[in-house]
Amino acid sequence: MSEQKTIYILAIESSCDDTSAAVLKNDKVLSNVVATQAIHKEYGGVVPELASRAHQQNIVPVVDQALAKANIDKKQLSAIAFTRGPGLMGSLLVGTSFAKSLSLGLQIPLIEVNHMKAHILAHFIKDENMKSPEFPFLALTISGGHTQIVRVNDYFDMKIIGQTLDDAVGEAFDKSAKILGLPYPGGPLIDKYAATGNALKFDFPIPKVKELDFSFSGLKTSILYFIQKRTKEDPNFIKNNLEDICASIQYTIIAILMQKLKKAVKLTGIKEIAIGGGVSANSGIRKALLEAQSKYGWKTYIPKFEYCTDNAAMIGIVGYHKYLNESFTAQDVTAKARYLIS
Ligand code: KG4
Ligand code: ZN
Repeated sequence: MSEQKTIYILAIESSCDDTSAAVLKNDKVLSNVVATQAIHKEYGGVVPELASRAHQQNIVPVVDQALAKANIDKKQLSAIAFTRGPGLMGSLLVGTSFAKSLSLGLQIPLIEVNHMKAHILAHFIKDENMKSPEFPFLALTISGGHTQIVRVNDYFDMKIIGQTLDDAVGEAFDKSAKILGLPYPGGPLIDKYAATGNALKFDFPIPKVKELDFSFSGLKTSILYFIQKRTKEDPNFIKNNLEDICASIQYTIIAILMQKLKKAVKLTGIKEIAIGGGVSANSGIRKALLEAQSKYGWKTYIPKFEYCTDNAAMIGIVGYHKYLNESFTAQDVTAKARYLIS
């Protein structure tokens, strides 16, 4: 295959509650449209059946918008990339079936993508405001469903070296927010209130977990007991201390993440650190990683905000590299709710 050829990838992401489509020209993003499903707010979490139905409603307009924004006609596309997993089965099925039919209709290759790998490879999107890490690097992937430290040797050679034994970091944020009476998803709200709070006001325990693994369920329970006790003493406790509570929760979560990253650097000798996943939008973790550059001599990589939370551009960049590798997917592919990266 000629290096000079321009490759246009249409990418589709539908693993959870965001319907997204993107068009990439080689490793550059021409468009990245995300339709976030507001319906789940009323239920305090993602309702799988509603997510699947909303994906069905959104997918055609979202793909049309992505093509229109990129000013690309379907006939110009080189391949269709889609999220095969991990995620909610009903949601994944919508994107998978759509991608399969479109590739069949257009007679162009189909490329399946692992969502967690995409969060990591989002760092290779060519963008003037972003630089890419060098192999090998450590990726901290933190989302609503995952918390992993991955050793990334190459685009396609990755190994999980640490992960959560129970809740994901995003869940820790969202469940803490729920205890405080904040709507779903509460992560961004904790981040917002934490900005003006005193992080040292309240003390929450850092769990002792072996090696590079994580645990967040104990933290959630201790926050719940703390809030129950304090609101019994003062019914307005949350209202009067919201910023300080949020800042203290965020401080504890970041301390846990940084403690494990430091351990991972010590064990592997790798000081190139990249973060990915929805929680990497958190301003506290972004600040901690920036500070780690001068503090510990690490080189840290933080994706642009729109490539942190679920989006199809990250699916597209994996699609591009798989296209170069001629790693195509057969039409009998099925969605995979549990899909490990290594
Ligand atoms: O990667 P993502 O968009 O979806 C999954 O694959 O899970 O991550 C969503 C998670 C949610 O738990 C959300 O609360 C969290 O990312 N999140 C944040 C922030 N923005 C999104 N958590 C803390 N601070 C934020 N600024
Ligand atoms: Zn995600």
